Amino acid sequence: MQQRLTVAQVLARFDREVGLEVTPRARGAAGTNAFDAGVAPEAAGLRAPTARSSMGGTGTGVAAAPDSRLTPTRMPVAAPVVARPSATHAHAYPAAVLGPAGDSSARAALLAEIEARHASTCPHCTTATGHAQLVFGEGAASAELMFVGEAPGEAEDRTGRPFVGAAGEKLDEMIRAMGLRREDVYVANVLKSRPPDNRTPMPDEVAGCGPFLVEQILAVRPRAIVTLGGPATKFVCGVETGISRLRGTWQTWTPPAGASCEPIPVMPTYHPAYVLRTYTKQVRAEVWSDLRAALAKIGRRPPERATAVEA
Ligand code: URA
Repeated sequence: MQQRLTVAQVLARFDREVGLEVTPRARGAAGTNAFDAGVAPEAAGLRAPTARSSMGGTGTGVAAAPDSRLTPTRMPVAAPVVARPSATHAHAYPAAVLGPAGDSSARAALLAEIEARHASTCPHCTTATGHAQLVFGEGAASAELMFVGEAPGEAEDRTGRPFVGAAGEKLDEMIRAMGLRREDVYVANVLKSRPPDNRTPMPDEVAGCGPFLVEQILAVRPRAIVTLGGPATKFVCGVETGISRLRGTWQTWTPPAGASCEPIPVMPTYHPAYVLRTYTKQVRAEVWSDLRAALAKIGRRPPERATAVEA
C-alpha cells in the first residue's frame, strides 16, 4: 500500500531528489546548487518554484549541467501547488490619484475622471447585472468629512444618487444634527452598483469595486471618515471585527502604497438602516456619540442637542 506522506516529508524528499543536498554534479561553478546557479526549474522539467523551493538567491548566471536526477522521470510527486482563487484584483492607482491633493476644483476634476474610469473599467460593475445605473457618490470634493455606506439600494439605483431612500433620509437627519448640510460632506458606498435583492456585497465584488472607493478617498482627502455599518467598516478599516464592537472606537484608513497621503481616522457607526430598524434610545445615543466624536476630530463643536438622532 502506498505510504501517505506529510507535506513536510514530501518537501524533504523533493529537496533530496532535486539536489538541495548538494552533490558535485548538482553544483554550479560557484559551488551553489542547481537552482542558485541559474538553472530555471522549468527548463529542468520541474514545476515553477514554490514559495518554499524558490530560495531567493541572486544566482550566478552560470548554468550548471542539468542533473539527470532533475528529469521528470525521477520527479517525486510533490504536494500540488494550488492556485487559490484570489479575492483581490490588481488595481493600478493612477499617479494623479496617488499624488498630493489639489485644490477643490482639481479634486472635483479628479473625481469626475475616477467616475468615468470606474464606469468603463470596474471589474465588478462592468460585469454585474440587474442594476439600473451606477451610483458613484456625491458631495463636496474637498469635504472634511466623508460618509461611507455599503451599496446602493432600490431608491439609489433608480436615482443614481447615494443614500436617498429611507436610510438616506436618516443619514440626512444625522448630518443636520451635526450642524452640517449634506452638500458639506462627501457620501459614497463600497459598491457602486446595487446588489441583487439588496444582499450584502460578496468579497469578490468588494475586491473589484472597492479600490474605486479608495480612489475617491484619495481624491477628497477628508480629515475623518464615518463608516456606516459592518461591510463599509470592514472594507475601509481592513478589519473583520463586527460593527457592534467597533463602533465608537477610532480606527484608521491606511492609504495604498505610494500615496502621498497620511492615514485618515475612521469612526465606525451603525448603518442608518439599522438605526431605523432598531429605533431604541440606546442605539440613537450611541450613533450621536459617534458623530460627536467625528465632529470633534475635524475641529468642530457639536451642537448641544441633536433632536433628530438622540431624541
Ligand atoms: N444603503 C447604503 O449602504 N448605501 C446607500 O446608498 C443606500 C442605502
